[in-house]
Parts: sequence; structure tokens; C-alpha cells
Amino acid sequence: MEACRRSSTRENSRFVVQQLAVLDPAGDLARDVRDGLSRPQKILPPKYFYDELGSRLYDKICQVPEYYPARTEAALLEEKAGEIIEEVRPDTILELGSGTSHKTTHLLNACEANACHASYLPLDVCEEMLIDAGNRLLDQYEWLKINALVGDYSAGFDNLPGSVGSRLYVFLGGTLGNLNEFDARDFLASLRGMMGQNDYLLLGVDRVKDPRVLHAAYNDSQGYTAAFNRNILNVINRELDGHFDPEQFEHRAFFNEDKSQIEMHLHSVSSQTVRIDGLDMNVRFEPGESIHTEISRKFTPEALASLTAAAGLSLVDHFEPENGYFSLVLLSPASVKMRKIK
Ligand code: SAH
Ligand code: TRP
Repeated sequence: MEACRRSSTRENSRFVVQQLAVLDPAGDLARDVRDGLSRPQKILPPKYFYDELGSRLYDKICQVPEYYPARTEAALLEEKAGEIIEEVRPDTILELGSGTSHKTTHLLNACEANACHASYLPLDVCEEMLIDAGNRLLDQYEWLKINALVGDYSAGFDNLPGSVGSRLYVFLGGTLGNLNEFDARDFLASLRGMMGQNDYLLLGVDRVKDPRVLHAAYNDSQGYTAAFNRNILNVINRELDGHFDPEQFEHRAFFNEDKSQIEMHLHSVSSQTVRIDGLDMNVRFEPGESIHTEISRKFTPEALASLTAAAGLSLVDHFEPENGYFSLVLLSPASVKMRKIK
């Protein structure tokens, strides 16, 4: 993203930062905002949440008591990382949407304990985060080599660096749930297409549960989620010379039981017209009218199994806490299993 520029990189033989995107990010943003705000139900693509401030707000969300997914997934990883690394023994770990890479340290600890010195390829739209996280990990693991990839995973995987040996793909944080059913299947199927016979995918998804628990997780009392949601308007103001007053929009998140998803909106608190100079566009809002900013789908084990099977992936392991709040699954290309069965 435009706003996520490099601060200070320690590029050396242990740390390389590579731009993956061949796309012009500002051009993308302009097209997506024009298109999204011209629809009857206005929408904005969630990848624009994550400029530097947005990424830091997401990190804050992960620390609030109501947001159980982060600590639940971290605890599962801490407990199971050894088992996972012993099974996979990866030469490379490629993490999609790596953010702060906090949870990844459990995998790296297990690599260290098993003398499995994998190199790490974190991929994210936020370059600032990649550099911060990379510098921190280099200090923590003296054997570690990092090849950070600045890019957009919704653009497909054709431009990912090829792999030598076995690769563990990692996709955590319930981020798969931010894609709708079709996009999630396409995403997994194209990832599956990239995978060699000895590769694995470690996927963390959030589960269906008491709607009150879900509601609290996306409406934290300290207001970090609201600030995070509104931050997408700051991004438009900065990048496209917009004139949004974020205070004129209210954060709302609710669980849609029929679709089994949290839906996040920004509701206009008044009748207003917002000018976006960079697009030469005026956007009209009626009181209460919303911009739909995000979905976060919640899975049953059955729904997860059918999604991964449809993408050609087979389940190697399924880890969950006693309360069933979250699933961490280890998947492999289905053909591997079929070969073993024959
Ligand atoms: N995996 C981390 C962060 C999850 S938040 C965790 O579990 O805590 C989602 C992450 O994905 C953010 O770091 C965000 O910057 C990144 N992201 C969102 N959309 C993306 C896209 N289209 N391409 C690449 N990264 C993306
Ligand atoms: N992947 C996270 C999730 O679905 C993203 C997220 C958490 C989020 N809180 C949010 C996105 C608030 C928008 C607003 O849980």
C-alpha cells in the first residue's frame, strides 16, 4: 500500500525485502473506491484497512480481552507447533498476510528445537509491518533467513518465488473468513495449484459459536475495532484527497446467522455529501446508510472440511481447543493422500 512505505530495512544476506506487486497500488485503490462507493450498497475492499496505522490497530485488537481468536490460535500453535514441524520439516515457511508475525514465533521456536532451519517468507500488503517484524525475528533467531514479500495475495500466486524442498504455507488469523465462499475456494484452489507433493498448508479459521461471544469480539469496549474500521476512511482521505470526517460514521458489526458471518459496516450518522478530489467524485449518504467494509465468516468443522476438499486439499491434522472456538488445520495436496491409499 502507498502508506506502508519502507522505513529502515536491514537488507543483507539474511534479510531481503522484495516487491511482488506488478500492479500500481494507487491505481487499484482509485478504481476500487470509485467502483465500491458507486454501488447501491456501498462497499470498500478490506485490504485497504492495513496501512501502518491500521496494522497497528489490528495488533491492538488482538490484545483486547474480547477478541478471543488471536489468543486462542496462539495457544493452539504454542502447543502443537512441535508436532507440526516434526511432521512437515519445511525448508521454507511462506506466510500469507503475516502482519506482526507474532504467532509465527511458535513455529520458529519449534524449528529451532528440531534443528530444522527453515527460511521464512512473510507476505503482506503492509511493508512497514514486514520490516518491523523481520528485524525483530532476525534478532531472535540467529540462523533465520528472511525473504519478505510485499504484495497482494488477491492478485493470485503466479508471482510467488518458486520453492526448493518442502514448503509450509501458513494462513492464520481467520483471514480466510474475510473472503466470501467463492473467493475462499478460488484462493485455496490456486494455492493448492502452487503446492508440490511435499508441501503443506497450515490454516487457522474461526468457528461458529454463541453470537454474544462473536458480537463482543467485533465490538470491543476500548473501541479499537471501531477505530480500525473507520481508518479505511483516513486511507481514502490521504491517498485520494478525500474529505471524509470519520466521526460522521459509526462502526457496526453484527453476526448474520443465516450466512454464518460477522458483517462490518460504517453507518453515516447524518445526511452528508463527501467530496473525493482525487476521483473528482461526490458521494452522497442518507442518514443511516452504510458502507459495507468486511465479512468474517465462521465455520463449522463440516463446512471447513467441504471447503478444503473442494479446493483439492486433504486434512492431515485438525487441532482445536476444548471449547471448539477455533480450528487450526494442517492440509496437504489431495493427490498425496490418494497416492498413499492406492
Ligand atoms: N496473520 C496475522 C495478521 C492477520 S490480519 C495474524 O494472524 O495475527 C490480516 C493480515 O493480512 C494483515 O497483516 C494485512 O495487512 C494482510 N492482508 C490483508 N489483505 C491482504 C492482501 N490482499 N494481500 C496481502 N496481505 C493482505
Ligand atoms: N481476520 C480478522 C477477523 O476476521 C480481521 C478483523 C478482526 C477485522 N477484527 C476486525 C476486520 C474488525 C475488520 C474489522 O477476525
